[in-house]
Amino acid sequence: MSARTLDDLQTPALVVDADSLDHNLATMAAALPGPRMRPHVKAHKCTALARRQAAHGHRTFTCATIREMEGMAAAGLGEDLLLANEVTDARRLGRLDARVTVAVDSAATIDAAAAGGVREVLIDVNVGLPRCGCMPDDAGRLADYARRKGLGVRGVMGYEGHVVGLDDRATRARLCEDSMQLLLAAHRAVGGGVVSAGGTGTFDCNRWATEIQAGSYVLMDTAYAKLGLPFRQALSVLATVISVSAGYAVADCGLKALGMDHGNPTVQGATVWFCSDEHITFAPEPPLRVGDRIRVWPAHIDPTVAYHAEMHLVAGTTVQETWPVDLRGW
Ligand SMILES: Cc1ncc(COP(=O)(O)O)c(C=O)c1O
Repeated sequence: MSARTLDDLQTPALVVDADSLDHNLATMAAALPGPRMRPHVKAHKCTALARRQAAHGHRTFTCATIREMEGMAAAGLGEDLLLANEVTDARRLGRLDARVTVAVDSAATIDAAAAGGVREVLIDVNVGLPRCGCMPDDAGRLADYARRKGLGVRGVMGYEGHVVGLDDRATRARLCEDSMQLLLAAHRAVGGGVVSAGGTGTFDCNRWATEIQAGSYVLMDTAYAKLGLPFRQALSVLATVISVSAGYAVADCGLKALGMDHGNPTVQGATVWFCSDEHITFAPEPPLRVGDRIRVWPAHIDPTVAYHAEMHLVAGTTVQETWPVDLRGW
């Protein structure tokens, strides 16, 4: 049987460029070797890709959902899994054959962890992003409470998500330091060996965390590409032109195949007008014909991947491997 090529793929299809992926994996492993980096699987939701990260020396992982934790444990990647998110029912976590740590930011989530059979927690601290995380001053009290409930407190986490995407590197570094000072103050009250924080945009300026939770670096997107980071855009959506009109063309990659919260995707050599459910309408230069294939570069990788059941690892036009996006769902 001859090798599959891009022409054989049903579109829209997630395509991962093998060279760029290798570059990203190697660049991060050199900058933050082994446990200095706790890759976040929410960006790719794919155990085959997580295995590549493990092969580059990272065997501790960050997850956002219980399903991601279950999938990673079932894939034999459960040496040290952090659920960097609060849950009010931890029973599925307590059943996992893996080292499980869960983020907690309230007495209720500590109670849930203990009741669910989870043994270890990190105190999640609000370092400026109005999302999960306790106030820094409450961290010590919560750690004491967790210990009284019989939980091991490994340390703190605090995601500076309001900082990671800022364009200006100096501002990013300064605000990252402000956030990490809050986290370190909380850590002094909590104890434990772990200070977990960071993302792709702060992977090299966050000098205070003991481990960085970057996820997007491995595939990247057009939003992160603007920051001048040393990672390459490895993931695009292959689409087929299905209609051509005067001045514009339409391809089969719309809102249901793209995360759009960071704005329109990019099509090289074209101006994207808008996306609707199953369509992307764009003005190509030079003109295209029905049946032509294009690459659509998403602005936000995480929600884009979550729309797809599989991703294809491609070298040139040859499809080397097809990986299930097996960590989707909850
Ligand atoms: C808690 C947490 N840590 C780390 C990350 C990694 O982010 P990035 O996509 O910047 O690598 C995220 C992303 O949303 C996150 O929610």
